[in-house]
Amino acid sequence: MIVLGIETSCDETGVALYSGEQGLLGHALYSQIELHALYGGVVPELASRDHVRKLLPMIRQAIDKSGIKLEDIGGVAYTAGPGLVGALMVGATVGRALAWTLGVPAVAVHHMEGHLLAPMLEPDPPKFPFLALLVSGGHSLLVAVGGIGDYQVLGDTIDDAVGEAFDKTATVLGLSYPGGPALAALAEQGDPGRFRFPRPMTDRPGLDFSFSGLKTFALNTWRESQGADRDRADIARAFEDAVVDTLRIKCRRALAETGLKTLVVAGGVGANKRLQARLAELMQAEGGRVCFPRPAFCTDNGAMIAYAGYRRLQAGQAENLSIKVQPRWSLEELTTAS
Ligand code: KG4
Ligand code: ZN
Repeated sequence: MIVLGIETSCDETGVALYSGEQGLLGHALYSQIELHALYGGVVPELASRDHVRKLLPMIRQAIDKSGIKLEDIGGVAYTAGPGLVGALMVGATVGRALAWTLGVPAVAVHHMEGHLLAPMLEPDPPKFPFLALLVSGGHSLLVAVGGIGDYQVLGDTIDDAVGEAFDKTATVLGLSYPGGPALAALAEQGDPGRFRFPRPMTDRPGLDFSFSGLKTFALNTWRESQGADRDRADIARAFEDAVVDTLRIKCRRALAETGLKTLVVAGGVGANKRLQARLAELMQAEGGRVCFPRPAFCTDNGAMIAYAGYRRLQAGQAENLSIKVQPRWSLEELTTAS
């Protein structure tokens, strides 16, 4: 079966075709970053309108590039949440309507399940069970994954998500939106020994995170500095080290508590090189394995939705004709699929 995957939960339009027999046939991505950069953040109404403009041409383009015909599509998967309601409605409406027109099943996919399963698109994919660290612009989750839909959230953020903390700190340092990758690049030039930022909530038991204090710490350090380029780079490095170290400590704790030996890292911040290196070291020391999706599948994309949808359709799941999206949706509400 070939599944068309559609992702429109935030500021990226993603489309992909996944075949159960041949794997990923093709994918297309359009980022709205330039559209929102002017405002310093995602403007929901502009995001929805741009998805309307881009989605259908991108579906046509993905089909043409994959060398298949529209009628070859055997199922349609769309992100139904969590995300911006208007943006989600665009993908859900197009996906549901297209499936009805083609006479094939449609399935609503949880965006974070898509992220969590993205490493399955790589060669030598991880095997269940595993621990997943999901770090994106909207989420910071540690999840014990027993199988598709068998998700136990072990830790969550009590305030900002990791990506949000990267973006806000980047703004403090005068970098343009979205600042995560720019801050990471700047940190490369920073001196790791000059400032030491706290490792929030690592001095007490538990697996929850808190990142908003780090942004404030960065702001105060920046104001007390000379405001020179060197200061900016050193603060970026201290911030990144603190985030990465905090995530490493919490992953190690979760591995010890669950006895799991495989760590999957996904979501936009999963593309961070220093995070990848430190978690690879951790898993080597633990005698386990770490899996990351390729950088393009760490951030939002259609391929992860096509894959998650394929697995759910294979298990017999499908939606009725109503179009429903869930801007807020816990991973733990999902049901298992074999
Ligand atoms: O998963 P994603 O594409 O969208 C959401 O579902 O939120 O994640 C986007 C987030 C942004 O906050 C962005 O700044 C961050 O991931 N990000 C990074 C890096 N690449 C993307 N943060 C740190 N280092 C990176 N290399
Ligand atoms: Zn995402």
